[in-house]
Amino acid sequence: MSDLEFFLFLVPPILAVLIILNLFKRKHKFQNLPPGDMGWPFLGETIGYLRPYSVTTIGDFMQDHISRYGKIFKSNLFGEPTIVSADAGLNRYILQNEGRLFECNYPRSIGGILGKWSMLVQVGQMHRDMRMISLNFLSNARLRNQLLSEVEKHTVLVLGSWKQDSVVCAQDEAKKFTFNFMAEHIMSLQPGNPETEKLKKEYITFMKGVVSAPLNFPGTAYRKALQSRSTILGFIERKMEERRNEMNGNENDLLGWVLKNSNLSKEQILDLLLSLLFAGHETSSVAIALSIFFLESCPAAVQQLTEEHLEISRAKKQSGETELNWDDYKKMEFTQCVINETLRLGNVVRFLHRKAVKDVRYKGIIV
Ligand code: HEM
Repeated sequence: MSDLEFFLFLVPPILAVLIILNLFKRKHKFQNLPPGDMGWPFLGETIGYLRPYSVTTIGDFMQDHISRYGKIFKSNLFGEPTIVSADAGLNRYILQNEGRLFECNYPRSIGGILGKWSMLVQVGQMHRDMRMISLNFLSNARLRNQLLSEVEKHTVLVLGSWKQDSVVCAQDEAKKFTFNFMAEHIMSLQPGNPETEKLKKEYITFMKGVVSAPLNFPGTAYRKALQSRSTILGFIERKMEERRNEMNGNENDLLGWVLKNSNLSKEQILDLLLSLLFAGHETSSVAIALSIFFLESCPAAVQQLTEEHLEISRAKKQSGETELNWDDYKKMEFTQCVINETLRLGNVVRFLHRKAVKDVRYKGIIV
């Protein structure tokens, strides 16, 4: 037998052994994955995962999967193999190991909509820098001296627009309040101004796309949201130019503050402002609407809440003060309990997305 014949004779068995070893290794590697269904090729189970549901529940997708596979299961979402966890222990472990074993990793579609500089997309030092800028702006002093009175102003404005004996939609009113508040806080936009109303309309289209399937075809919510994103960014950019041309820049809003106190680029500022508008508006408005929803079935809590606020109001009248201050806010102890209970019962932020930077073993399973 020549050397070549001998070599050709050996190749098939060696290849077969390698393939079997590889399959064995893969099987071994994947055998500790949690149970679950990878769904359709590419689409996986994304459509079921994104299907809308009431914020007072965890939704049919989670309900159905938890009863079939338990609180930790595998799936395929947004074109990626994914482990879904509704397990408090694993969730705590993931958040405790942020930056070491796990990092923030939202689907690519979110990055397309919120922008590549959004805090939900950035990781590492850039993420820390962006977070620091936002936290510095939302300082304790600003919360006490400025934001509290802005909250009061916008609350009074919304309440004042309600007609006697009319029916209002709590969710719409909560959205109106949070949008007006965030728009003033971020860019000093005044409620009711034509430009604020135009931005609000654009923002609604934008929002519908953030939580839709990432299908970039004509007519889809995602495509419309991308168009609205460009319009909103164009608006913010014009505001930025106006500010740069002003002699004494206003530092009372986030736009003025970042222009003066950070060296972020124009693109970074645009994504930061849009992301904060989204982060502050979507969460707070749902939480406010939910608290009204839960209170409706708890008259005793409504009674206690009313008493707490009437007491503060009486004390202010006696001292001749009109505006709420930090001490009044600190007296709202039961109100704080209502907020905490609302956030505990409601499902305001449905999912957090993280990527394991390496295979992580948790209680015998691989995540
Ligand atoms: C009830 C109200 C709110 C809830 C339930 C809420 C919830 C959350 C949650 C769960 C996250 C973590 C996301 C993640 O790590 O993947 C987050 C992040 C964030 N939220 Fe809120 N939020 C609320 C209000 C606000 C407001 C009013 C603002 C801004 C004015 C805001 C700005 C942010 C920002 C900037 C981040 C990103 C932080 C980071 O990545 O380091 N949130 N929020």
